[in-house]
Amino acid sequence: MAMRTAVIPAAGLGTRFLPATKAVPKELMPIFDTPALQLVMDEAIGAGVEHIVVVSNVAKPGIEEYLKPSADTVARVRKSGRTELADRLERIGKDVRVSVAYQDQPRGLGHAVSCARQAVGDEAFALLLPDEIMGDSSLLLQMAQMHNETGKTIVGLKRVPKNEVSAYGVITTTGTTGEHGEVTITGVVEKPSVEEAPSDIIIIGRYVLAPDMFDILETLAPAPSGEIQLTDALLIGANSRTVDGVVSDIERHDTGTPMGWLQSVIELTLKREDAGAELRTWLKGTLS
Ligand code: G1P
Repeated sequence: MAMRTAVIPAAGLGTRFLPATKAVPKELMPIFDTPALQLVMDEAIGAGVEHIVVVSNVAKPGIEEYLKPSADTVARVRKSGRTELADRLERIGKDVRVSVAYQDQPRGLGHAVSCARQAVGDEAFALLLPDEIMGDSSLLLQMAQMHNETGKTIVGLKRVPKNEVSAYGVITTTGTTGEHGEVTITGVVEKPSVEEAPSDIIIIGRYVLAPDMFDILETLAPAPSGEIQLTDALLIGANSRTVDGVVSDIERHDTGTPMGWLQSVIELTLKREDAGAELRTWLKGTLS
């Protein structure tokens, strides 16, 4: 069955981005002119999903506001000549159903996923962490296809310089890699020190979760921090060899810290047809 639903967790309070996040949800901070949330929704839609579940927090009314269909906004964007962007905005709530689920306590990514259970139902779904922005939908499409073939949970992965691993989930594999980067995951550790990291392969915030992950999450005890970790559920799956991954070379931008966000804005804007050349010229002048 095609993957119908994508879950986007957006309930975090964005502490690293204070004071901006006092009023603006982190997921709505613009990448040039478009919120990260929109870019991640576009990626999911590009992979064929027809329902997006955003897990939000009642303290972030801006998220719901953004998700409301607005013919007026679409018309104004269209009038400004940005037809392709207008088309993308128009699809939200029309071709693609959007639901909001709530996570009102900061109880971790695993808990956020559980909060989407009712909206998703008993089927596989994509999970996209909006801190991470991908160049296109190709990785998610590949992961959905791998899930269709195996029924397993599939995790998006990337090799990074070893000194970067401590901000991420880090995995171990059976050691065999398929033609398109396919691996079987045998272990996963959340945010290990560089010395303790079992490899240089990190989880990049893209998952296709088989429905058994909801059941596994329900059995988990909270970590000492009170959080239910998705990584713990993945480890249980990995132990029974029901979690595969794909080591990808997709273009990826991590907006999770203020510096990462700024670098992502610059990198992604440099690639834009309507703004890249101007930004490049200005950067050159500023840096010389
Ligand atoms: C989360 C996951 C981590 C993953 C990362 C990707 O961490 O827990 O395993 O590598 O996203 O961005 P977070 O960045 O939310 O702390």
